[in-house]
Amino acid sequence: MKASVTAHKDFTIAKIDDRIYASFLEHLGRAIYTGIYEPDHPTADKNGMRQDVIDIVKELNTPYVRYPGGNFVSAYNWEDGVGPREDRPTRLDLAWHTSDSNAVGVHEFSDWCDAVGTKMMLAVNLGSRGLDDARNFLEYVNGPVGSAWGDLRKKNGRAEPFNVDLWCLGNEMDGPWQVGHKTADEYGRLANEVAKTMRAFDKNLQLVVCGSSNADMKTYPEWERIVLEHTYESVDYISLHMYFANHAHHTGNYLALNEKLDRYITTVESTINLVKANKRSKHNVYISFDEWNVWYHSREQDKKILEGNAGWPHAPRLLEDIYNFEDVLQVGLILNTFIRKSNVVKIACIAQLVNVIAPIMTDPMGKAWRQTIFYPYYFASAFGRGTALQLAVNCPGYDAEVADNVPFVDVSGVHDEAAGTLTFFAVNRHESESIETEISLQGFGAGSVIDHQVMTHKDLRAVNTAENMMNVAPSKGTGAALKDGTLTVKLPPLSYQMIRVK
Ligand code: AHR
Repeated sequence: MKASVTAHKDFTIAKIDDRIYASFLEHLGRAIYTGIYEPDHPTADKNGMRQDVIDIVKELNTPYVRYPGGNFVSAYNWEDGVGPREDRPTRLDLAWHTSDSNAVGVHEFSDWCDAVGTKMMLAVNLGSRGLDDARNFLEYVNGPVGSAWGDLRKKNGRAEPFNVDLWCLGNEMDGPWQVGHKTADEYGRLANEVAKTMRAFDKNLQLVVCGSSNADMKTYPEWERIVLEHTYESVDYISLHMYFANHAHHTGNYLALNEKLDRYITTVESTINLVKANKRSKHNVYISFDEWNVWYHSREQDKKILEGNAGWPHAPRLLEDIYNFEDVLQVGLILNTFIRKSNVVKIACIAQLVNVIAPIMTDPMGKAWRQTIFYPYYFASAFGRGTALQLAVNCPGYDAEVADNVPFVDVSGVHDEAAGTLTFFAVNRHESESIETEISLQGFGAGSVIDHQVMTHKDLRAVNTAENMMNVAPSKGTGAALKDGTLTVKLPPLSYQMIRVK
């Protein structure tokens, strides 16, 4: 089978916002406790944070980490996590039916972000709480010393404001499972008042209003329209979430799901434009896709924990999806979609980062390792920065549950003008055929292939474990060649590739 792709220097989509490689950590399961924080671990730093985890997270160069939730935030009292540790209360977390010692709060998390080289994206609780709490939290985090909240922060060890510039106005407020779930009108009105209040403190904050929890919600996409009618002028982003699953073990259908993702983004983009027109506004609102990943492997195990009368365990093994090779392809496809939609998706957070539906796993008191999906996320974050190219792709396709004529080759292209590099990320969805792919490079003046990485495996269900950490890992590709402005590469069946030229 053959595919042809044309890339032209002037056919561009947008400058990719680096924040599409952001991520997420929630007080959920072992994400925080025994994930990033484990004071007794042999590698723990002076703050009790695992250095082995910090080192792996650093590789990902993730620009922001969303915190502290997720569903957790909708019943969270941020004050529980500040001040002397011995005085912090243990609280019952209503979202995940666990208990939280509050040993980690905003100070500890900020120190961890500094160690990793990333920034906090914080969420305020608009479930069990509201406007006044959001304002107090913001003043505590960003306010000057000399005011009550700034002075309390100083007393708790930090005189300098944290200067967090990116804030979420609650989480998944369209979801009936959410503590404090609201209708679109109720939420839209509240979010607008909260946004106005937060902007009265600092007009330059970047604010994210909740869109739909997924594209199958009954309220989607009217939710987006109504919420934006209330908030359009006072927010910068609307959030979307989507999780990918292969319950039926049908690879073709599973690997077509990014067509649904593409449609979801396009629909919300249209909704933004509709409201913008209704308002006769010149303000732009973009998408923050602040939760995305594969999530289904752990569902049965989670049910047992959550429905098994486990009481209120501290840091149980919740949402510990063990990813396989097939999920590498899925994550590659999702990231390709974000690159192609970089005109409207300005933030995207892989959900999550450690232990909980995460690219990085840890054993308590033991090792930390990279799951299979770590690699496509790593490659995109490391080399998918620059300008997204509008590629013309010619390739046979197949019919799937969510779309017809899904091309066997899914590809995105990124031009880093400063470095003079061109990077292509490609997934071959074909289950049995290699695809001879020709990419015509027009106007770039690229000379040769500088890197070619391949991920393929004879077993779609192969995973990485503490004992076999490199079972699914990239290897150097062979056979990619650039001659007379045409890049040729053979994509093996069910493979992920990154090809770079300069
Ligand atoms: O990331 C896990 C959960 O998924 C989050 O807490 C919630 O926002 C979403 O439903």
